[in-house]
Amino acid sequence: MALSYYSYYSMASFKCFIACISVLIILSLSSNVEARSKEQLSIDYYYYTCPKVLDIVRDTVVEAIKNETRTGASLLRLHFHDCFVNGCDGSVLLDDNATFTGEKNAFPNSNSLRAFDVVDVIKARLEKACPLIVSCADILAIAARDSVYHLGGPTWDVRLGRRDSLTANLTAANVFIPAPSSNITLLKSNFADVGLSFKDLVSLSGAHTIGFARCTTFRSRIYNDRDISPPFAQKLRGECPPVGNDDVLQGLDLKTPSHFDNLYYKNLLTKKGLLHSDQEIYNSNKADPIVRKYSRDVSKFYRDFSKGMIKMSEISPLLGNEGEIRQNCRVAR
Ligand code: HEM
Ligand SMILES: *[C@@H]1O[C@H](CO)[C@@H](O)[C@H](O)[C@H]1NC(C)=O
Ligand SMILES: *[C@@H]1O[C@H](CO)[C@@H](O)[C@H](O)[C@H]1NC(C)=O
Ligand SMILES: *[C@@H]1O[C@H](CO)[C@@H](O)[C@H](O)[C@H]1NC(C)=O
Ligand SMILES: *[C@@H]1O[C@H](CO)[C@@H](O)[C@H](O)[C@H]1NC(C)=O
Repeated sequence: MALSYYSYYSMASFKCFIACISVLIILSLSSNVEARSKEQLSIDYYYYTCPKVLDIVRDTVVEAIKNETRTGASLLRLHFHDCFVNGCDGSVLLDDNATFTGEKNAFPNSNSLRAFDVVDVIKARLEKACPLIVSCADILAIAARDSVYHLGGPTWDVRLGRRDSLTANLTAANVFIPAPSSNITLLKSNFADVGLSFKDLVSLSGAHTIGFARCTTFRSRIYNDRDISPPFAQKLRGECPPVGNDDVLQGLDLKTPSHFDNLYYKNLLTKKGLLHSDQEIYNSNKADPIVRKYSRDVSKFYRDFSKGMIKMSEISPLLGNEGEIRQNCRVAR
């Protein structure tokens, strides 16, 4: 009797032991999952810490575009040049100084990237509303989205929580940012290097429906290329002579450089891509059907562009306690 009592209790406590261990294991697993999910990008990342973040960025982008329409294009390109170099980590924003070399003087960036002052205004307003909370990398991702939308393009949800880099890499900027002289093979490999597909290359190149390029970036095309409309080349030669006028601007989409439409693809069909790299995506058999599709179906272009932007904006983000939140987007800790 006493024995059976004893074994009854020991059995019960054994059962409890098993149950309690299982509960502990399950708890620790689920808290692990939670800890990991805290280190992922999410749409509501600043919901409690900076609820006005989206309003502040959007209002400032709208104000900046009102000041100068081209700013929308410049902000979109800043995000692209950030993401292609060690991921979207704000590295492109860091200034050079006596002991530090950033990416601003890399060949594709120097005398070319713009709107750093607008990022400063956004950051200053965010520092006032919620100090040391919102990363510069996230600012670029939101500002790019808002720019596209306010120039008449599509919109999409931006997942947030990127952290800012402590470093930059000028060599990597020269290696990884595609050049306007590149052929389709090289463009494809630049995109593949950062995990973007051929389709992403074709849809994201549609960003060139807004903004401007300097004569120096398309001179070789208008004098040497054969895959170009002759009257189009002739007209551009008038503004971009064989020597000089390097910084004279031309709309990447000649007719509507301030409107996010699909004219870029229609221009490619008639060999009126401004950059050599633009026209390259319409003389390789594989891209041709996509270009034709986008030229006819603007909604399809918008959908694929939005998907491509989300992919691009999520290239290797710094998460959790990697990197930092900068107070000034131009300076790392
Ligand atoms: C596919 C390879 C690409 C090449 C070779 C390329 C090259 C260029 C070049 C040479 C310029 C003119 C720069 C200057 O004259 O200073 C430019 C402008 C621009 N690029 Fe690209 N680009 C590419 C892809 C992209 C992507 C993926 C985006 C964004 C998603 C983008 C957005 C822009 C914008 C908006 C401008 C105009 C900027 C302004 O007016 O300030 N580009 N690009
Ligand atoms: C717009 O222009 C005004 C006047 O030059 C300037 O003070 C303001 O900072 C600009 N806004 C943005 C967002 O760049
Ligand atoms: C910078 O990028 C280049 C090219 O990708 C790479 O070889 C080099 O190791 C990088 N430098 C640093 C300090 O990470
Ligand atoms: C593309 O350009 C690269 C580098 O300039 C060159 O090596 C390659 O042969 C070119 N490919 C084609 C298909 O023209
Ligand atoms: C130079 O820039 C780096 C990177 O932003 C920063 O960490 C450092 O404090 C700066 N040095 C000076 C003297 O401003």
